[in-house]
Amino acid sequence: MKIVILGAGGRLGAALMREYREKHDLSGFNHTQLDLANLDDVRGKLGAMNFDVLINAAAFTNVDACETERDRAFLINAEAPGVLAEICNEKDAKLIHFSTDYVFDGEKRAPYTEEDQANPISAYGESKLAGEKNVLAAENGHLVVRVSWVFGPDRPSFVDAMIKRAQQDEKIDAISDKFSTPTYTHDIADMLPDFFDRRVGGGILHFANAGKCTWQEYAQWALDCCGDAGVPLKGKTVGALKLSKMTNWVARRPVYSVLSTAKYAELTGRASRAWRDAVADYITRFYSKK
Ligand SMILES: NC(=O)c1ccc[n+]([C@@H]2O[C@H](COP(=O)([O-])OP(=O)(O)OC[C@H]3O[C@@H](n4cnc5c(N)ncnc54)[C@H](OP(=O)(O)O)[C@@H]3O)[C@@H](O)[C@H]2O)c1
Repeated sequence: MKIVILGAGGRLGAALMREYREKHDLSGFNHTQLDLANLDDVRGKLGAMNFDVLINAAAFTNVDACETERDRAFLINAEAPGVLAEICNEKDAKLIHFSTDYVFDGEKRAPYTEEDQANPISAYGESKLAGEKNVLAAENGHLVVRVSWVFGPDRPSFVDAMIKRAQQDEKIDAISDKFSTPTYTHDIADMLPDFFDRRVGGGILHFANAGKCTWQEYAQWALDCCGDAGVPLKGKTVGALKLSKMTNWVARRPVYSVLSTAKYAELTGRASRAWRDAVADYITRFYSKK
């Protein structure tokens, strides 16, 4: 099976490259090698290749910048995925496209299922939802995988920022009234091959580690794991910060965006592991001084 990964320099794309390199016939493009804003180049380069699966992990992911650069957000996150789907249709290949929990407004208080109505409250969320629609309109068994709070070793995320801050300062705070679930890139890489086959899982699929937490709980657990792993920290307790205090944010963010993984479990007979186990595994592997 020949696989091509876009966004190969990003947090998720780089993890997929690393984890699939040995097992699959694999090619990848980072941002410099293929700019999704240049649709002619996208058509030219990908049109000239043969592949069975195209994985799009590239996106304009800066949520605040999407508010001020709306046209660019829609070009990269919405128009380009539609072009990718067309290219895949011409080759009878499957497109696996990543999307986000930010397509929801966050008003629900139970995990969002694939059937729940998306209602984005930011330009990022709107552009990603438009991208999903463009991919699914191509109707060729393409798959949209929505993930939340992605972390992993290939590019720092929230958890790494919290650990870094705790290494420098005694006082650390994180938001205590915003809920979702961290998702480890290693676990995404592990689940995705079940869906490489065109006949399995077209449409929308939610994937995240199991459970739910606030950023405060997430950060506290990470620091606790660092303590167990012998990572020296100045700060050990994470204080609570209210979402309403984040006055420097340009975009609105959903307060609750936990994704239900019931459909994933039903399709595969597998359950995603608990977020605490995934974070502990990450810290042991990439931070442990023991
Ligand atoms: N991170 C999260 O917490 C999170 C949560 C939910 C969903 N997601 C989704 O998961 C997917 C992967 O995100 P990630 O966490 O891996 O984010 P990331 O680290 O920001 O990776 C995105 C990649 O896309 C590249 N990119 C940006 N503009 C591009 C363009 N015009 N052409 C080609 N490449 C471009 C970026 O390159 P540069 O850095 O060089 O610009 C980067 O390598 C995305 O679809 C995202 O929407 C992420």
